[in-house]
Amino acid sequence: MIDCQKHLFDIPDDVTYLNAAYMAPILKSSAQVGKVAVAQKLHPWEITIDDFFGLPKTACGLFASLIDSAEDCIAIVPSASYGVGTATKNCKLEKGQKIIVLADQFPSHVYPWQEVARDKDAIIETIPWPADDDWTAALLNAIDQTTAVVACPQAHWTNGTSVDLVAVGKKCRAVGAALVLDLTQSLGVMPFSVKDVDPDFMIAGSYKWLLGPYSYGYMYVAPRHHNGIPLEENWIARKDSEDFSRLVDYKDPYQPGAGRFHMGEKSNFINAPIAIDALKKFNELGVDNISAYLKTLTNYVAEKSDEIGLNVARDKFRAPHLIGINFKDGVPSHIAPMLASNKVFVSVRGQSIRVATHIYNDKADIDRLFTLLQNEI
Ligand SMILES: Cc1ncc(COP(=O)(O)O)c(C=O)c1O
Repeated sequence: MIDCQKHLFDIPDDVTYLNAAYMAPILKSSAQVGKVAVAQKLHPWEITIDDFFGLPKTACGLFASLIDSAEDCIAIVPSASYGVGTATKNCKLEKGQKIIVLADQFPSHVYPWQEVARDKDAIIETIPWPADDDWTAALLNAIDQTTAVVACPQAHWTNGTSVDLVAVGKKCRAVGAALVLDLTQSLGVMPFSVKDVDPDFMIAGSYKWLLGPYSYGYMYVAPRHHNGIPLEENWIARKDSEDFSRLVDYKDPYQPGAGRFHMGEKSNFINAPIAIDALKKFNELGVDNISAYLKTLTNYVAEKSDEIGLNVARDKFRAPHLIGINFKDGVPSHIAPMLASNKVFVSVRGQSIRVATHIYNDKADIDRLFTLLQNEI
């Protein structure tokens, strides 16, 4: 397990930032790398053709190693919705078949499915909030022969209740359903392996848990979809795009692997170096170690909640990094502003205060939160 890594960040001592699920800070080292990248645009003659291909290749390779994947299964995407949009073009869906989503799932992983369901006369089945927090049992119960797609996360974005994706993946394969995952709220801090889960598509934005820049993310595409339909037709996704002198020798074939699925301008010379710097840190620290450390913090949140009579999901249904402190009648509206005015930053989502701990947090942060909360209960 790791220790608190606050020294890697520029977080003042009087700030308690428990809101990585909204947006995480980048590492100080990434900011340095980013400054160099911005300055490089003053001198575009220093940006080489190799940078166009090398930067995304490095980012994809580092991301792949976090999820037990091959580098050529990864594409760079600008957002979760871009990746989900790609998945909707490539998952088979017939009239009357079901697309399963969770209640209150993040809209980027719902709207594209609603659109395609309308188009194909398919059905969206929304799993209601399970009273016992067991999404996995509810999902397994709902997946049947009429299911075409299961579209879900690993941790619910509002309160961190978790899904056992190994079990869900197995059931999907048994009934021939596709599995499309938005792991924007868990990748990097919750162990995940494409070898164990075998999703069709998996998308993760980088600006939250992956400590990356905005408008930059990753999509895993299973090899069985490598001949699929990309969301856009950009020049760099086509075969031989490395030869800038012959780009107008238009070509039908694409780059190999998941190469056709990259966004246009995949090389983003400013975002990519920042994202790469962060991915190197994840590979160095190890997702299992990060996750184990964060689990000690969310367990502490659970303990402190219990002490003041508030409840959280049971341990076995909680993600390691994200936890909702539930208020039966909704979170009183003054609580988040009161916390913010004391420089304690959390989000309110649904009926809970969402506490999102990352590697810069420690137990003293949690103590500060509860010192303020206990006066309000
Ligand atoms: C689960 C989840 N997915 C995706 C996003 C962001 O979506 P997009 O990248 O489409 O803006 C968020 C933002 O809060 C999120 O919580």
